[in-house]
Amino acid sequence: MTEETFYLTTPIYYVNATPHLGHAYTTILADTMARFQRLRLGPDRVYFLTGTDEHGDKVAQAAAKAGEAPQAYADRISAIFRDTWDRLGLTPNQFIRTTSEHHKLTVQRFLQTIHDSGDIYFGEYGGHYCFGCERFYTEKELQDGRCPDHQTAPTFIKEENYFFRMGKYQAWLIDYINTHPDFIRPERYRNEVLAFLKEPLEDLCVSRPRTRLAWGIPLPFDGQFVTYVWFDALINYISALGWPDDERFRRFWPCAQHLIAKDILKPHAIYWPTMLRAAGITPCRHLNVHGYWKIEEAKMSKSLGKVVRPLDLAESYGVDAFRYFLLREMTFGLDASFSEESLVARLNADLANDLGNLYSRVLKLIERYYSGNITDWTYDETLSEASRAAYAQVAGAMEHFAFSEALGAIWNLISATNKYLVTHEPWKRNPEDARTRAVIFTAAETLRRIAVLLLPFMPGSAERMLRGLGIDEDSSSIRLDEDLGLRLLDRSRKRQVQEMPALFPRVETATPKPPEKRKRTAASSEVSPDEITIEEFRRLDLRVAEIVEAAEVPGSRKLVQLRVRLKDEVRTVVAGLREQYPLDTWPGKQVILVANLKPSTLMGIRSEGMVLAAEDDQGRIVLLMPEQPIPPGSKVR
Ligand code: MSP
Repeated sequence: MTEETFYLTTPIYYVNATPHLGHAYTTILADTMARFQRLRLGPDRVYFLTGTDEHGDKVAQAAAKAGEAPQAYADRISAIFRDTWDRLGLTPNQFIRTTSEHHKLTVQRFLQTIHDSGDIYFGEYGGHYCFGCERFYTEKELQDGRCPDHQTAPTFIKEENYFFRMGKYQAWLIDYINTHPDFIRPERYRNEVLAFLKEPLEDLCVSRPRTRLAWGIPLPFDGQFVTYVWFDALINYISALGWPDDERFRRFWPCAQHLIAKDILKPHAIYWPTMLRAAGITPCRHLNVHGYWKIEEAKMSKSLGKVVRPLDLAESYGVDAFRYFLLREMTFGLDASFSEESLVARLNADLANDLGNLYSRVLKLIERYYSGNITDWTYDETLSEASRAAYAQVAGAMEHFAFSEALGAIWNLISATNKYLVTHEPWKRNPEDARTRAVIFTAAETLRRIAVLLLPFMPGSAERMLRGLGIDEDSSSIRLDEDLGLRLLDRSRKRQVQEMPALFPRVETATPKPPEKRKRTAASSEVSPDEITIEEFRRLDLRVAEIVEAAEVPGSRKLVQLRVRLKDEVRTVVAGLREQYPLDTWPGKQVILVANLKPSTLMGIRSEGMVLAAEDDQGRIVLLMPEQPIPPGSKVR
């Protein structure tokens, strides 16, 4: 039987700009997946690659603009990428640079191989060339026939170049995609590629004359030309493994998975598999494609009048909270919005409250009742089932890069543990009672399992949780199986639980301040769940909403479907008030909305919030409304 291995790559980023949120996102996803697979398979069976793409006009132009030689410029920017990944705690096995000697030789070897087999030919290319940009434009890229940057009409020039016979592989590629349905995923991107392949596939120009672009790898069969970008960049995925002879290529290429965003789908789904085919290499196993982050400028704070860059927020709020937000907020394959406001909301609700409070509550009980000492008391099976289910869901979701779904499953286990404590109320029981011990041990043991599951997603915090629980084993010795590393941890040892500072301090948001100055307060120290604290009350986001329109919910007499406006946002909310308030009475009304209620689907309609109403003893229901008109979106306090 061949051993199971895992090879994951990110795009190699252009060094014409410094790292931004999008680059960080892909690399964080890859890091999470690599850490997950290391936990599952062991570190030696996983290989995670990232790096920088350093040749071509874009980089040559950026270097010229910076007044630097291309190599010195590429060295400088590439180092910034590498440093940023270090600061974010990312763990690639290799950081490849396309200007390394090894990569250049591999590109030449690859080109020679397909040139020898007759798939590269010399021909003429005609196109719209802008001398200002020093590049060709396609008809589509031109605006009113002009260069979009220089607003000048391009010159139609003909140039001799080398071409790859890509068209020859069109039928093979269509067949390959059809017979490997999960080669490109999610499915929407597979469909996009198949739609594109309905048109005839043209051959691909793979060179630029040296007279026009000197910053590239010389073609091995004609020194007057350099390799044009994709034929250089894509090959990084195999040159990093030492293609063709290295042992790493043999071990890791058969299980290769690429991770990219939708912007570079075409080169990865069309150029790359056909190039590999021409060289006699099988394509990667999965091409995983994610969506784009859009940055909501209005919801990003400014410090000293300077725009806060998303990456700076990793420093202000902590790397793990930043990772959590990115992984949880975007559904893999779809676009999402990034704002500081939503990051803080998630930090406070999911991390400080759900997870952080559970953790500190359990640790405090152990400290208070048993001076921090717990041994292997009985584990209550109620939560055992829930933790097995969480493991199975996480493993299933991670198979197809559904990071948000995986975190959702872990949060279900967190809620189940919170509920378990509320049901058994150990804080009201005699500490020496066997049942109290079992309840507290069970909660602590489930927390340990939660920490193990969280290791790939929030490595620093998960390690802190384990240490707080008295487990000081090196986390790389933990294996993720359905017992969540249980067998590898010494269960019979006495554990010394240590109270630690709050895992995720809440961030006060009442008066937005620049991140550096924002006050962080420790999580509430209350153990009893009978009352809520002012912080807990503040988690409710109550807003004034104005009804734009009301419609029936097909198949329901009680429900009404409302479109409600909050400042500049319009949402759909489903309310059970159709009988009390006929459709035509709604438009223009101002109501109170629970705006941060988890969305739910009612009769097939997604409802994003809840309208508040009061009910008397006879069951009469009336809407709660502001006493005077007030701008929609106003906060209820
Ligand atoms: N150098 C090429 C890739 C060659 S791979 C053989 C390139 N570089 S890039 O610097 O432009 O990086 C593009 C990638 O950065 C995207 O595919 C994605 O991984 C990431 N992102 C850049 N902006 C992004 C968003 N706004 N949102 C999400 N990810 C995005 O293309």
